[in-house]
Formats: sequence, structure tokens, C-alpha cells
Amino acid sequence: MRQAGRSLPEYRAIRERVGMFEIMRDPALTAEVTLQPVRRLGVDAAILFSDIVAPLDAIGVDVDIKPGVGPVFGQPVRTAADLAQLRPLDADTDMPWVAEAVRLVVAELGATPLIGFAGAPFTVASYLVEGGPSREYAHTKALMRTEPELWRTLLDTLADISLASLRAQVLAGASAIQVFDSWAGTLSAADYERYVLPSSRRIFDGLADLGVPRIHFGVGTGELLGLMAAAGADVVGVDWRVPIDEARRRIGPGKAVQGNLDPVLCLASWDVVEPAARDVLASAGEAPGHIFNLGHGVLPDTDPDTLRRLVDFVHTHG
Ligand code: CP3
Repeated sequence: MRQAGRSLPEYRAIRERVGMFEIMRDPALTAEVTLQPVRRLGVDAAILFSDIVAPLDAIGVDVDIKPGVGPVFGQPVRTAADLAQLRPLDADTDMPWVAEAVRLVVAELGATPLIGFAGAPFTVASYLVEGGPSREYAHTKALMRTEPELWRTLLDTLADISLASLRAQVLAGASAIQVFDSWAGTLSAADYERYVLPSSRRIFDGLADLGVPRIHFGVGTGELLGLMAAAGADVVGVDWRVPIDEARRRIGPGKAVQGNLDPVLCLASWDVVEPAARDVLASAGEAPGHIFNLGHGVLPDTDPDTLRRLVDFVHTHG
């Protein structure tokens, strides 16, 4: 349940006085906001408080996270010269607070696993190239098509940055990792395979020696599920558009699936949420290898009591 914190008054109280990057640079505060949803909701795993653009901030890229908007960049990357903004990430020296936060969280969590995460190259590139959130990804797709070599360099550079961040999180104690390709669903399968998959695979291959489960997630990626599995993940996340049984068929054997209750339904009353949760569990069936989750992040107006009830329901009926 990503961004579950947004619905919690205890998180909002901290955010009233402290900025996103300020929280991330303070390991004790990061640990606190990471643990808040675990305490309140009783979920089976924690996800580290950070953001997909945190490694870029750490290497000095001019990026801000605007409330209600998302990541916004001072200077979009659209030419070879713009690439000079990027350099390799050395997680130990560029973002030492991450490993420290992971150690604090893991110590507090006990047997509950911590999931580390990073952005997939395409989704991070989309913010960098557009300069912020986008609906059409016009500049991103134009760059991909007109300058395929520059595009490949950009995506491989971003893959290496995410990989360095993920390795640091695992070496500090994270038990699993998730790679968010939230906006890959804007691409056709052919474009995904040609222009994106090789760079994402670089991340999964680069983690193989660490032996932790690797989750690969996107929104609106029904047509890409097989390819996202082929990129090297152990678990593929699916949003609410494709039922779990069909998602499993598309993902193929030997992988687990994560999902997929529509987070919007959690704004409704329990008599709406319960049958929908039941449908997800029924679609997953008895076979092992299903992680119940929302199909995307928690919406800020969600009542935390609904989420708590949902967690309890899945624990009882899953
Ligand atoms: O669950 C957690 O709180 C873990 C930490 C987490 C954050 N961002 C903190 C955050 C995670 C896993 C992310 C990932 C992330 N960030 C993704 C991929 C996952 C997804 O939801 O698709 C993306 C695309 C981003 C970029 C981003 N950062 C967006 C789109 C937003 C929302 C902007 C808004 O306010 O609507 C952010 C901000 C952000 N990152 C918040 C949190 C808790 C929002 C709240 C705040 O301002 O305090």
C-alpha cells in the first residue's frame, strides 16, 4: 500500500512542518514515517519512505516534489548536453542517510520485512524529459523515436542509478525490492520491448546475486505483463484492470503476482470494499504466489480504518 502514509493524520502532522527531502535526509524521521502505516494498518511488510526521484536529488539534479503534483525538474533533459546533469550514484557517499534509515527500520520491524524500491528507467525518464508529470509523454516519446541512441544512454544511466540505490538498500537490510515503472502502460508492447525492457533488465540482472525477491510494478500495464516478467522480476504487480487469474496467465509460470484492488474503492464504505476484496482473493484462487495489494497507491482521502479492516479481512480470508 504505497503512500499509505498520506492518509494518516500522524504522517500529515509531520509533513506540516517538514519537507519530503528533509524527511528523507533524516534517518530517524524516515524510520518513523516508514513505520507509521505498519503500526496503524498491520500490513505484512513496510516500504521504505523515499521517492523515485530521491537518487537524482542526491546527485545534485534540481528536482522538487510538489504537493498534489509530483516531481518537478528545474531543467528537463532533452539533448545530449542536458545529460551532463546526470552522473553515477555512489549511494554510500551521495545518500548515506538511506542505509542508516534502512538499518533503523529493520531493527524496529523485527520479523516484518522491509521493501526497498527505486524507479524504473522509463518512469524516471518520463519525469526528467517532460520536466514533471505528464499525460501524453510527448517529449519522452519524441526523444525515444528521434534519438534512440541518446534515449538508450539516458535509460541505461538511470538504470545504473536505480541499481546502485537498490543494492545499497538491500546491503543495509531490505528483504525485497520493488521497481516502479508506474507509467510504462503508456507504451505499446513493441515499443516497451524495444526501447525500455533492456534497461529495466539491467536492474533486475544487477540484483540477481543478492538473492532477494524482485517486484516489478506498473499501472495500465495489462498488455505488458509478459514482457515485465521477462525483464527479470520474480513478482509482477498488476493494477485493477486485469483480474489476477488472467494476469497470471499473461505473466507465465514460475513468477508470483501482486495486486490488485482498485484503490479508489477504498474511498467507499466497507460494504463496497469487502466484496471487491473477496473478488480479488477468488480470482487469485488457492494457488500460491499471490501478494494481496492495492492496484496503485493509497489516495490521500482514504479512511485509515477502512485500510485496517481490509488488512484484517485479507489476513482472515486470504
Ligand atoms: O508508501 C510510501 O510512502 C513509500 C514511499 C514512496 C513515496 N513515493 C513517497 C511519497 C514511494 C514508494 C513512492 C514512489 C513513487 N513516487 C512513484 C511510484 C509509485 C506509484 O505510486 O506509482 C512515483 C510515480 C512517484 C512520484 C511521486 N511522488 C508522485 C506521483 C507523488 C504524488 C504527488 C501528490 O502529492 O499527489 C509523489 C509525492 C510523494 N511521494 C508522496 C509520498 C508519501 C506524497 C505526499 C506528500 O507530499 O507528503
